[in-house]
Amino acid sequence: MRIELSDEQRMIRDLAREFAEKEVMPIAAQLDREGRFPHETVRRMGELGLMGIFIPDRHGGSGADTVSYVVALEEVARACASHAAVMSVNNSLVCDPLLKYGTEEQKERLLVPLASGKGLGCFALTEPQAGSDASNQNTTAVRDGNHYVLRGRKLFVTNGREAAVALVFAQTDRAKGHRGISAFLVEKGTPGFLVPKVEDKLGLRASDTAEFLFDECRVSEAHRLGKEGEGFKIAMATLDGGRIGIAAQAIGIAQGAYEASLNYAKERKSFDVPIAQHQMVQWMLADMATQIEAARLLVLRAATLKDRGEPYGVAAAMAKLYASEMAMRVTTDGIQVHGGYGYIKDYPMERFFRDAKITQIYEGTSQIQKLVIARHLLDLR
Ligand code: CAA
Repeated sequence: MRIELSDEQRMIRDLAREFAEKEVMPIAAQLDREGRFPHETVRRMGELGLMGIFIPDRHGGSGADTVSYVVALEEVARACASHAAVMSVNNSLVCDPLLKYGTEEQKERLLVPLASGKGLGCFALTEPQAGSDASNQNTTAVRDGNHYVLRGRKLFVTNGREAAVALVFAQTDRAKGHRGISAFLVEKGTPGFLVPKVEDKLGLRASDTAEFLFDECRVSEAHRLGKEGEGFKIAMATLDGGRIGIAAQAIGIAQGAYEASLNYAKERKSFDVPIAQHQMVQWMLADMATQIEAARLLVLRAATLKDRGEPYGVAAAMAKLYASEMAMRVTTDGIQVHGGYGYIKDYPMERFFRDAKITQIYEGTSQIQKLVIARHLLDLR
């Protein structure tokens, strides 16, 4: 398997790095402090082609590949994990399924603006009783002629307040269990589609995470994505791709934390020498760099399999599991290298640490990734 980036992939990574360093890094701490959504820089991500990287040009995207997507996403996360969350949900969880399952009309009407960054998308699967147990959906979509009426609640929807369109999963036939779940593209402003709450979070404070309420929300058949009953498979297949993105996000966070720690260790003195000269600090830096590199290889492997059209769900679960656990270890050690300065908000370390935590939770917890991997190893599906 090739691990060298092509010229085009390198160019996209460099473009993302330049944007992230110049336009995102300087504002990341303030956005985090204020819990403010970065409208201006998200708009810039659209202009730069970062919101639909692997979507073909004719559908509004950049026409690149998944490898380009993950290397760009890592660069953005290195500067600000919130921007990376906005970017990954739009690319992986909305544009990708629209491309795979959307009708030509849905692609024209919804994919083009989302992939070109003129609007944002979000993915509404989780419910109060359906987190890891995602098929335990209570939201219903009851057929009424050529319409459906949606009723129910969705939780923890990244981009939820800002998104123009939500991919919503609901039971169209409860008796059929997961085979009775269907997917719907519901546009903001549709009567009965309410956003009663935006969460106050530990990390990713510049991205919004919302609750949705569907109160007799009517959508036409043309809003259904895929066939009736195909929703759970769409959700699962979409999350396979999403997990590659979250793994890349985790690597970007860890890379940012590692670089901050390396620089700090060269400057900070104790016992008359820079702490980088103490072997115990060197070991932490060596462990950080090695684990980041290992995670990067797993992500590139999963992205390459996806680009080749080969099965990639297990590779994606392995990449996400390893990268998110690694990001938590690296940011924990990063705080240790910084000592007391790692614990205060004058330095970026505590933000990296808070932002890393969610990568072990969303788009499938570490425990769910292990379950996916183990089921594959033991042939249990
Ligand atoms: N691709 C396609 N189909 C799949 C699939 C995949 N990766 N995984 C499972 N399926 C299909 C199966 O083939 C099966 O279909 P049939 O019965 O027709 O054969 C069906 O789905 C059910 O599969 P399982 O029996 O394996 O389902 P399960 O109930 O045991 O659940 C699970 C499996 C892996 C635990 C799954 O529920 C899961 O991934 N849970 C975690 C959910 C998750 O990641 N949530 C994140 C939400 S998004 C978010 O984080 C917020 C955000 O905004 C970013």
